[in-house]
Amino acid sequence: MEKPAINGGKRTRENVLPLFDVDIGDEEAKNVLAVLKSRDLVQTHGTWANQFGKLVKDYLGSGNIVMANNGTSTMHLALIALGVGPGDEVICSPLGWISSGTPSLYQNAVPIYADVDPVYGFIDVEDVRSKITPRTKAICVVHPWGLPADLDPLLELGEEKGIPIVEDAAEAFGATYKGKKVGLFGSFGSFSTVWNKIITTGEGGFLVTDDENLAQVAGHYASFAKVPGKGDYFDGLGYNYRMTEMMGALGVAQIKRVEEVIKKRRANADYLRKQLSSLNIQGLNLPEEPEWGRGVWWKFTVLLDLDKFTDSKDEILKAIQAEGIGVAAPVNPDNLQPFYSTKQVYGNTSCPWDCHYYNGPKNIDYSLMCPEAKIYSDRALWLTGCGPRLTNPDLDSIVVAVDKILNWYKK
Ligand SMILES: Cc1ncc(COP(=O)(O)O)c(C=O)c1O
Repeated sequence: MEKPAINGGKRTRENVLPLFDVDIGDEEAKNVLAVLKSRDLVQTHGTWANQFGKLVKDYLGSGNIVMANNGTSTMHLALIALGVGPGDEVICSPLGWISSGTPSLYQNAVPIYADVDPVYGFIDVEDVRSKITPRTKAICVVHPWGLPADLDPLLELGEEKGIPIVEDAAEAFGATYKGKKVGLFGSFGSFSTVWNKIITTGEGGFLVTDDENLAQVAGHYASFAKVPGKGDYFDGLGYNYRMTEMMGALGVAQIKRVEEVIKKRRANADYLRKQLSSLNIQGLNLPEEPEWGRGVWWKFTVLLDLDKFTDSKDEILKAIQAEGIGVAAPVNPDNLQPFYSTKQVYGNTSCPWDCHYYNGPKNIDYSLMCPEAKIYSDRALWLTGCGPRLTNPDLDSIVVAVDKILNWYKK
C-alpha cells in the first residue's frame, strides 16, 4: 500500500489543485475596461448592470430581475418584500451557507431550521411541515451544491398553508427542476455570482420573481428606499445593495458562456463519478443527479461511511489535502453556529428571540433542530468544485489521491 504524503510518502500532485478556480476570459477584461473608461461606475448612472439583468432574464426565460451586490442581500431583499418582520419565523435550510438563514435575523424574525434528507442534503418537506406555526412567514429552500431540490412537495405545502417559498439558488444557476430553471418556482429565486459560483462577477447576485410588485419593492429597498423623482426622499429603511457597473460588465461576458460552462461541469462530474465508481472503494458513496432535474455541480459531494475507516473524517480530509488536492468539507450545519446558542446578535440583548413581538417558545434549542444535517455534514467531503478549467488529468489526480487515502485508512 502506498504511503500517504501526510506520513512522509510522495504527494499525488506537486502543485495544489484548488477546490475552485475562476474562469475569466478576454471579454470580461474588455468590458471592465470599458466601464472604467466610461467613468460611470454605479448602476444608476451606467448600463452594464441593467444589461446583465436583461441577459439573466432572457436566460431564465421568465420573471422580473433585481440586480444586487451579493446573494445575501438578495435573500434579505426577498424577505423585506414578503413583509417578514419582528414576531415572525422563517423556515430555513441548514446546509448551503450561513446567510441563507441569517437574513431573517436582519428582519428581526426568528429562523427555524428544517432537517434534510440523508442522501442529498435537501430540506425535508415533512420536517418543514412539522415546524410550521402561525408565525411562519416564509420558507427558504436551498438547492445545495448545485443540485435541484424536490420543489413540488414544498410548493404544495406552501400553497396549502399560504406561506411563500423563497428558493435560495445561489449555488445552482442554470440547474433545472422538471425541465424548468430553478429560481422560477418560488415567490422569489435568489442567486449569487460571488467568485466561485456558476458564473461570477466577483461579488454579486440577483433576484427573480414573477410578481412585478414584489420586484419593485425589492429593487426599491436595494437602492436606499429612495422614491424616484422626489429628490432626497426616502419612504423606508433602505439599503445600498446595488450591483456595480464593473460587476455588471463581468456578468455580461460570463452569462454568454453559461451553458458551455454547465456542460463542462456536468462532464467533469460524470467523469469523476465513473472513474471513482470503477474502483469500488468501500465506504465511499458517490453523488448522483436527482431524477427530477439537471444539476450544475457546483460541488462534487461524496459521503463516507465512517465506520468503514480507521480514522476520523478530519484526518482523511487532511490526508487528501496533503496529496495536493483542494478537498474541503462542511464544518457544521448552520443551526449549530455559536451565535445560535448564545442568541446574542443585537448588542447585549437576545433579540429577536426575547422580543416582545415574538410569542414562540422561549429558549429554542438550535442544537436539536437538524440531527440528519449533522450526520450528513459529518460524512460529507467536497472533492472538487467541478470548475470548467479542470482537465481529465486533474480529475485523475483526485481519483488517485482518494483511492490512496481511503485504502490507507480502510478498516
Ligand atoms: C446557498 C447560499 N446562499 C447564500 C449565499 C450568499 O451569497 P453571497 O456570498 O453572494 O452573499 C451563498 C454563497 O456564498 C450560498 O452558497
